[in-house]
Amino acid sequence: MKNPIEKKIHSLETKGACPYLSKSNVPINFEDPIFNKSPELTFQKLRSNAPIQQITLGDGFPVWLISKFDDAVYVLRDPRFIKSPNNLRVFGDETLKGQTKRTTSAYILRRFHMLANDPPEHTRLRNFAQKAFTPKIIAGMRAQIQKITNELIDKIESNKKFDFIDDFAYQLPIIVIAELLGLPVEDREKLRNWSDILIEVQVTEKNKQSIEDSADAFIDYLKNVFALHRKEPKNDLISAFLKLQETDDNMTEDELYATIFLLIIAGHETTVNLISNGMYALLSHPEQLNLLKNNPELIHSAVEEMLRYNGPVINSTMRLAAEDILINGVTIKKGEGVLVIFLSANHDETKFDNSLSFDITRKNIKHLAFGYGIHFCIGAPLGRLECEIAITAILNRLPNLKLDHTADSIEWRTSNIIRGLKKFPVIF
Ligand code: HEM
Repeated sequence: MKNPIEKKIHSLETKGACPYLSKSNVPINFEDPIFNKSPELTFQKLRSNAPIQQITLGDGFPVWLISKFDDAVYVLRDPRFIKSPNNLRVFGDETLKGQTKRTTSAYILRRFHMLANDPPEHTRLRNFAQKAFTPKIIAGMRAQIQKITNELIDKIESNKKFDFIDDFAYQLPIIVIAELLGLPVEDREKLRNWSDILIEVQVTEKNKQSIEDSADAFIDYLKNVFALHRKEPKNDLISAFLKLQETDDNMTEDELYATIFLLIIAGHETTVNLISNGMYALLSHPEQLNLLKNNPELIHSAVEEMLRYNGPVINSTMRLAAEDILINGVTIKKGEGVLVIFLSANHDETKFDNSLSFDITRKNIKHLAFGYGIHFCIGAPLGRLECEIAITAILNRLPNLKLDHTADSIEWRTSNIIRGLKKFPVIF
């Protein structure tokens, strides 16, 4: 029988964040379509009534929700909030000694990358990736992203009616990341299927096997890709990673698989929903839409405002308190979980004037949509570039784009991770 801490860790590693079952002063249910229609209203209550509020996950795991900007920054930069449950050991948790290392393919893909680790492993894994995934390399992708965007618009232009997500926003980031990594673009459906299965947070008896099968298939696929790239290196990220690995004995093959997996999953749904939430914000604020059409140079501040106003990531990945930590009068006990709600921090009225309104002329927007601290998004330059190119191209080529029906009938996804629309029908 597992002891209580092992049970907690098991649930974190296998299930991640489950639907919230709130027993607290501001009820939150991320599965509720009404909540998802206007989460900003619930978050506003949370910030004023219970800015650090404990809830219980479906499996009984206690988690603190951090909803104010300054508390969010505090948590994200305090090294006592850790990512890897194994590191509770470093902080003297005897109960974890002797825990066996699980090395199934799914375990490798989920736990051997930077976002699941703390320093010094995090620093090592991030520095390795950052050597090849540089802002300069991303900036060099501009012409290629523009070309892919134009080709996608060519395909929908004659339709007069399409789904903005399925037919456009969903396609762009997976093609971009496949090309950047050096994976055949025709493999994108395969990559998408594996990722969809592998990011499933709830591991059940029913899906356990398909998760392991997908992880095995993904790793086998990368083994072949690596063999081809080693034989014939190209000008892509995988070739650059393999070259770096030749002189870096510390980076294992398993860590490379997990790093590539992370780049694919962390950069896909996020960028899809940044572009589509951003376009939706413009279409539902016609005065802002016209302002951008008439002043295309505002695209940079418009993208920052899209990230702040309705960014695609609702809350952070889970952190654990490595010891009892007092924050703003609340003690978070060792082993308890913490989630920072980015969407709420980005609407904090003490940080942003008229925080609930969408204003593409807002200056110096310091939002948390890409996180903060050591895990700050490594793909931020790429996400920003893709959004900027996609929105500009759509406004230039389809200037009469409108929602196909009223904003009232629009349905949001019921996810506790990604903020995005289920469907986004448009006409022009
Ligand atoms: C475009 C919208 C994007 C948003 C809003 C976004 C958001 C975030 C956030 C909030 C985090 C921190 C999570 C936490 O601390 O718990 C993060 C981390 C990360 N993101 Fe992004 N992301 C985006 C695009 C991308 C892209 C395009 C890539 C790569 C292709 C990427 C790769 C990563 C990686 C590797 C990390 C982990 C960094 C670390 O642990 O040091 N992201 N992202």
